[in-house]
Amino acid sequence: MDAFSYVGGVLHCEQVPVPQLAEQFGTPLYVYSQATLETAYDRMAGAFAALSPKICFSIKSCHNLHMLRLLHSRGAAFDAVSIGEVRRAIEAGADAADIVFAGVGKTRTEIDEALQLGVGCFNVESSEELAALADAATVNGKTTTAALRVNPDVDAKTHPYTTTGKKENKFGIDIDEARTLFSQYRKHPHLQLNGIHVHIGSPVNTVAPYVETVQRTLALIDALAKDGINIALLNLGGGWGTCYQDSDAPPIEDYAAAIVPLFAERNLAIHLEPGRSITANAGILVTRVTYCKQARTRKFAIVDAAMTDLIRPALYDAYHFIWPVAPGNDQTPKGRTPDQAIPNAETVDIVGPVCESSDFLAKGRSLPPLAAGDLIAVFSAGAYGAVMTSQYNSRPRAPEVLVYGSRARVIRRRETYDDLVAAERDI
Ligand SMILES: Cc1ncc(COP(=O)(O)O)c(C=O)c1O
Repeated sequence: MDAFSYVGGVLHCEQVPVPQLAEQFGTPLYVYSQATLETAYDRMAGAFAALSPKICFSIKSCHNLHMLRLLHSRGAAFDAVSIGEVRRAIEAGADAADIVFAGVGKTRTEIDEALQLGVGCFNVESSEELAALADAATVNGKTTTAALRVNPDVDAKTHPYTTTGKKENKFGIDIDEARTLFSQYRKHPHLQLNGIHVHIGSPVNTVAPYVETVQRTLALIDALAKDGINIALLNLGGGWGTCYQDSDAPPIEDYAAAIVPLFAERNLAIHLEPGRSITANAGILVTRVTYCKQARTRKFAIVDAAMTDLIRPALYDAYHFIWPVAPGNDQTPKGRTPDQAIPNAETVDIVGPVCESSDFLAKGRSLPPLAAGDLIAVFSAGAYGAVMTSQYNSRPRAPEVLVYGSRARVIRRRETYDDLVAAERDI
């Protein structure tokens, strides 16, 4: 599944023992495996090869420039949701034409800058935004391509906070309204509105919602063709599942096997926007136990990582497999299965030092007994991990380290107190 494995009872990232990284760079610490990242990207590209898709890596899932550079060198294009992400992609080496600019609330300033930079496609989420884009393109004397994000009203069966393709969500445009807009803008001199974008949620851990989405979207494309409107591009979005536990999502090849045949005889350019399926299992968060506290009814391991380092458990009650970094040979985990039977297991809550009850990484986990000073690993933290960190409680952000084989290098340094106050000083 990934290149984080226990060798001699000690967790390694590729060939590097994780305790060595913790010693060298301190904790909390993000550790990424380059091999895992590249394999995930290559598998996605291979699985959908028959469609020759443009794989627009979703920067929001992991925006570190060095990770973006690696993906760019592998052939990735980029999905950006702010002008900051557009700039990151360009700094990582991307051609602006290989960036799709998505997001429900692009400001006029962002649209103007993206037009000047020459981004390849705007994914548009409302008639109001479409009008703003058309006007901006006219005023800037540019011609641009756009895709309408259509809301297919498909239930992705994911967490309510991460489902996006249902009627009641703020994302996308109703299918009937989309038809009107395509017709209205068909001859716009500065806007080539010939794409459809769909993104139904994330993670989408079954194949069926994608199949339903594609079928509904192809029906729309056929209906538009009858109106004389030719759709050249279909962007299927992201949300492709990945394994936070051993088998909570099918492999990417299963999604592709169901989706690719739906495009037989179709001459459509395809965009995909994977994020977590590329990055989640390429990263772990390493943290050290500060105290073990036995309260009246529960045992807490208070660690030096917090919701400020990994907010997913607090935000979506997300599950991350957690295990000691050096449990010894007799207690190495079997895969990433929750609550595995070990003889002397203890039930603990893994919590951080932040002054919020929602500051936890896991609750009620059955783990080998922990003691102050122990290192533990929070797995599958490469997506929506470091990228969602904050400085709340004046906590400097953790560093990020990239491992390749037996080499490790810092790709984001640990923040300092000066970083915390830099934007407040000298004003
Ligand atoms: C429009 C769009 N595309 C792609 C993604 C990436 O999703 P994931 O990281 O689950 O693949 C998201 C995530 O929210 C999104 O909103």
